[in-house]
Amino acid sequence: MTTAVYPGTFDPVTNGHLDIIKRASSLFDRVVIAVAADNYKNNLFSLEERTDLLKQVTADIENVEVKSFSGLLVDFVRQNNASIIVRGLRAVSDFEYEFQMSLMNKKLARDVETIFLMTDTDYSFLSSSIIKQASALGGCIKGLVPPVVQEALEKKYKNKVCD
Ligand code: COA
Repeated sequence: MTTAVYPGTFDPVTNGHLDIIKRASSLFDRVVIAVAADNYKNNLFSLEERTDLLKQVTADIENVEVKSFSGLLVDFVRQNNASIIVRGLRAVSDFEYEFQMSLMNKKLARDVETIFLMTDTDYSFLSSSIIKQASALGGCIKGLVPPVVQEALEKKYKNKVCD
């Protein structure tokens, strides 16, 4: 059984992430989404909220689990009997950071491979920050995030922009 781990901050999960999750779930027997507890980002959603939103939007995908983690990603990968890390690549600009991260992970754990999936062109311009910015300023983000995430953002920013 091949288990892959898809890590990220997911603040919040977007349709770009969801596209990667769905494709990974058809490539691997089991996909564990690893929601990072501590990072240097100033998150809008708490760890519990980020994890809960991911659980809701992946509820209908049988071989996907959602867990949170702190500490080294490669330790989490091993604890979950996985040997693959999945990351999405959106544009050339992602490459340098992803390259650095995958090489560091390889140094830390030689048996763990990072596999990159190209993000769907419909979502290649997306990031969680750009979604939050548009939503905070009253932009309609319908179709870019799952409906439950749209609702959660509207609640946070106390606005209801889309019909
Ligand atoms: N569609 C839409 N957006 C996407 C995307 C996709 N397919 N793929 C990435 N993004 C966006 C994210 O929304 C995020 O946007 P933001 O910066 O506006 O929040 C950005 O791209 C990158 O974030 P993400 O994919 O969540 O990665 P991250 O850099 O926040 O998280 C970890 C990286 C958590 C995986 C990494 O820090 C980690 O492994 N930490 C554990 C510590 C460790 O082991 N360190 C040593 C290894 S280097």
